[in-house]
Amino acid sequence: MVIHLDECESTQTEARKLALEGAPAGLVVVARKQTAGRGRQGRTWLSTEGALTFSMVLRPNPLTPRITLTAGVAVLEALDDLGVHAQLKWPNDIVLGGRKLGGVLTEAFNQTAIVGIGLNLATHPEGVNATSVDLPREDVLATLLRHLPGPEDFAYVLTTARKRSATLGREVTTSDGTQGLAVDLDPDGALLVETATCLVTVRAGELL
Ligand code: BTN
Repeated sequence: MVIHLDECESTQTEARKLALEGAPAGLVVVARKQTAGRGRQGRTWLSTEGALTFSMVLRPNPLTPRITLTAGVAVLEALDDLGVHAQLKWPNDIVLGGRKLGGVLTEAFNQTAIVGIGLNLATHPEGVNATSVDLPREDVLATLLRHLPGPEDFAYVLTTARKRSATLGREVTTSDGTQGLAVDLDPDGALLVETATCLVTVRAGELL
C-alpha cells in the first residue's frame, strides 16, 4: 500500500506513526514536500521541487545493520533500470559523477525499521555538492518499489556494493577521526580502513 501526501514534516515520522498503529511491512508513505526532512546524523534533509521522498515500513527478523546497505543496492539497481548508473558512497549516499543524488536513512525501533529514501529529481539543493536526474517522479517511485527492500542474499548485496562503491580504494577520513585507505567492507557492510598502524572497522558515522 502506498500513501501519497502533499506535505508532511517527514515521511519517516508518518511511517513510524502508522507502524506503531500496526501498519504491515511494505507500507510506503510518499510526500511531495517535507517541511522537516531528516538526514543521517541528525541533519536536516532539504529537497527541492520535484524530489522523490518516501519511507517504507519493514519488519525484519532479526533487525540488522544490513538493511541499509541492502536498500542502497536496491536503489542502485532501480536507477540502473532507468539508465542512471550511480554509485554508493559509504555508508549510504547515492552519488552520480561524484555528487550526491540522494540518500538512505534507516531508523529502527522494536522489531521495525523505517527505511527512508530521498532522491533529487529535476532540481537539487545548491551549494552542497548535490546533483539531480531529470526523470518522472512516478516512474522512479514505481521502479524503486519493484526493487525495495532489496536482494535477500546479503553476499550478493556485498559483492554489488563493493563493485559499485565510490569509497573503496580511496583515502578517507571518517567522522570519528580515522584516516587511511578504504580497503573493503566487512561481512556486515562496515567499512574497513587501513590506517598507518592497523586495520580499523568503522561501523557508523560519515566520511568527511
Ligand atoms: C542522508 O543522506 O542523510 C539520508 C537522507 C534521507 C532522506 C529521506 S527523504 C524521505 C525520508 N524522510 C526523511 O525525513 N528522510 C528520509
